[in-house]
Amino acid sequence: MTIEARGDIPVVKALFDAARAARECAHAPYSRFKVGAALLDEQGRIHAGCNVENAAYPQGVCAEAGALSALVLAGGTRLQAVLVVGAGDKLCTPCGGCRQKLREFGADTLPVLIADPTGLRAQFTLGELLPESFGPDHLDTPAPEARP
Ligand code: THU
Repeated sequence: MTIEARGDIPVVKALFDAARAARECAHAPYSRFKVGAALLDEQGRIHAGCNVENAAYPQGVCAEAGALSALVLAGGTRLQAVLVVGAGDKLCTPCGGCRQKLREFGADTLPVLIADPTGLRAQFTLGELLPESFGPDHLDTPAPEARP
C-alpha cells in the first residue's frame, strides 16, 4: 500500500496512521500478534505493510518486509523513516531479519519509531538496532539510489 504524503498532515502522524491501518489488515491467525509498518521513502511517499502468516509457519512474512516490497514496487530507493505498530507491554521493535532488510535501503541514522495502537512509544536509529552492520557497501555495490 502506497500513500502520497500530504503536506497538511505531519509526517509522523501520517506514518502512524498508515501503519495502524495496515496492522488492521494483518493475517495473523497463528500468533494473533498483528503488526503494521510504514516507510517514508526518499520522495516523501509512505508505503505500508502488515504481517502475513502462513499455515507452514516459516513462510510467514513480517510487516516491514511487506512494506519494503511496496516501496520497491513503487520505485522507492531509500528510507527516510520507519514506523512500526504492535500491541503489548514490550516495544514492538523490528526482528533481526527485518533490521537487516531495512539496512539495504537505510543509513545508520535512519529513524525507527515504535508505536502501539494508542501512539508512539520509542525512537531508535537503525544503527542502534543493528550496530556494525553488513550492507551493500561491503560488496562494493553502489548504494541503491545510484543503481540504474
Ligand atoms: N512480526 C512482524 O511483522 N514484524 C516484526 O518486526 C516482529 C514480528 C510478526 C511476525 C509474526 O507474524 C508475528 O509478528 C509474531 O512473531
